[in-house]
Amino acid sequence: MSSVLQPGQSYEAKPGEAPTSYARIKPDGVDTLHGAILYLEEITVSFDGFKALNNLNLDISVGELRCIIGPNGAGKTTMMDVITGKTRPTAGTAFFGQSMDLSKMTEYEIAQAGIGRKFQRPTVFEQHTVFDNLELAMKMDKRVKPSLFFKLSSAQKDRIDDILKLIRLNGMEKNLAGLLSHGQKQWLEIGMLLIQEPQLILLDEPVAGMSDAETARTAELLNELRGKHSIVVVEHDMGFVTEIAQQGKVTVLHEGSVLAEGTMQQVQADERVIEVYLGR
Ligand SMILES: Nc1ncnc2c1ncn2[C@@H]1O[C@H](COP(=O)(O)OP(=O)(O)OP(=O)(O)O)[C@@H](O)[C@H]1O
Ligand SMILES: [Mg+2]
Repeated sequence: MSSVLQPGQSYEAKPGEAPTSYARIKPDGVDTLHGAILYLEEITVSFDGFKALNNLNLDISVGELRCIIGPNGAGKTTMMDVITGKTRPTAGTAFFGQSMDLSKMTEYEIAQAGIGRKFQRPTVFEQHTVFDNLELAMKMDKRVKPSLFFKLSSAQKDRIDDILKLIRLNGMEKNLAGLLSHGQKQWLEIGMLLIQEPQLILLDEPVAGMSDAETARTAELLNELRGKHSIVVVEHDMGFVTEIAQQGKVTVLHEGSVLAEGTMQQVQADERVIEVYLGR
């Protein structure tokens, strides 16, 4: 297993490992001096008095692949809504790195700052080819200068090729995205996120609706991203979580708070977790 990188370190391919132009660990504009990319402190979200999040505390380290599990209604999606600015917390603080206060930023500013999110349903451009989808995503990256006559440089083409291999769609770049399987669309959307090189990636139930084979390949994909990106994955598929959690941390949410946190083995053995979730 690769170790988590320290802040300021950039990912370097090991001997024999393919170069990874999609890797983005080196914080850029985000102050991660103390090693965390995200801090949620005592976040509460009330909907008409009902607390979807209740004093939630969560720290994500730079380069970490964190899995979040928990029963339906635990607040997992609401947590992602708070991180991306879609929902404003009633109380508590949310920081991206040391100094970006997410509560003072719009959804657009948060996306610009480098938090990328994948919703459950794939939202690719169905009428366009796989390649064009990745190219369009690249053009939406605000760091790329907008131009009416945008032409891909060879470095940009190489980056698209790297992503195509990573998301297992190389050889399918000329196919219409609308004709891909559900799982392939999900991979394409992950590729469209990666090409914008977000500092933090949020994936909400990425393998929901996938075939077993697609789920296994998605686990491989995430394991390839391990240590090269900071990623938060919400999932109900425990086989998948076990595959990608490895020795990393798993957080169990319940009724809007952290019920348990530890390795998959530790949380699986936790009586409270068994009672509210895994024992069902
Ligand atoms: N906009 C809203 N208004 C009122 N209640 C809401 C709203 N959004 C979420 N909730 C409630 O907050 C709670 C947490 O919902 P959330 O979607 O975050 O759960 P979840 O952990 O993602 O569940 P699942 O595993 O089913 O996706 C639920 O009881 C939900 O009904
Ligand atoms: Mg949800």
